[in-house]
Amino acid sequence: AKPLGLAGVRRRFERGEKLSMVTAYDFPSGRFARQAGVELVLVGDSLGNCRLGLPDTVGVTMEDMIRATTAVRRGVDAAGAATSPKPLVIGDMPFGSYLTMEDALRNAAAFRVAGADVVKLEGGSHLAPVVRALTNAGIAVMSHIGLEPQRALLQGGFRLQGTSATSAMEIISDAKELSGAGCVLLVVEMVPEEVGTAVQASISCPVIGIGAGGKVAGQVLVCDDMLGMHGRPPSFAKMFADVGRASAMAYETYVKEVRSGQFPGDKYSRHMPAEELHKLQQLLP
Ligand code: KIV
Ligand code: NA
Repeated sequence: AKPLGLAGVRRRFERGEKLSMVTAYDFPSGRFARQAGVELVLVGDSLGNCRLGLPDTVGVTMEDMIRATTAVRRGVDAAGAATSPKPLVIGDMPFGSYLTMEDALRNAAAFRVAGADVVKLEGGSHLAPVVRALTNAGIAVMSHIGLEPQRALLQGGFRLQGTSATSAMEIISDAKELSGAGCVLLVVEMVPEEVGTAVQASISCPVIGIGAGGKVAGQVLVCDDMLGMHGRPPSFAKMFADVGRASAMAYETYVKEVRSGQFPGDKYSRHMPAEELHKLQQLLP
């Protein structure tokens, strides 16, 4: 199947079709996303807390992200019998990788080389010049506003943003400036539904919400939250499967069967040809 491309995403958006986006961190999660037919696959810096055991996303490096992006790219490309068009792969620029314009350009280019179609940056109107420079350099940008995990400390922790009229207006004006600077997609995280709705109404590019209600162009979930990999996810994330529980049970059963000798047993053991076994027995002391 052909790549959906930005044009394909826009076409679906303009037809009023809801867009699905999910994070992926490696080959299998990229493949699952592709096979399910999502439009957007985010190599999120949530890699840090989900897969590296970090307390938050701040310790994630460019090296971590580039390695993950190459693996996700291969998973998306290799999805075998998938008939749905290839989704866009979005690389999440990690903490500290866009502090200066030069860093932003160099690191965004590295994501493109690693196989990302689009790069994502957290930040409001102060990032408009960076979004414009990247766009001028031929790099498509997804912006990320509302709750910005890379600056959660300054935002008062992982909490709902835009709850007052003033702070809501700030988020809306950030969205307008970023859109004016050229961002092609926008994530809004952890805001009241009314704010998500207003952001989408204020700009012409698709708004993808996470904890932002259903009146935006699409939804994004962290795959580990969707799968229940770490127990109960945040309240806005729906657990679509309990892979954490299923995995824990499989590990427990494995250990039990190794200890009891039930595994491997005859079914998972192989035998020598009788003739060779006979020879071996004569060679053994
Ligand atoms: O890193 C991530 O998972 C994200 C999504 C929550 C949008 O940025
Ligand atoms: Na992120």
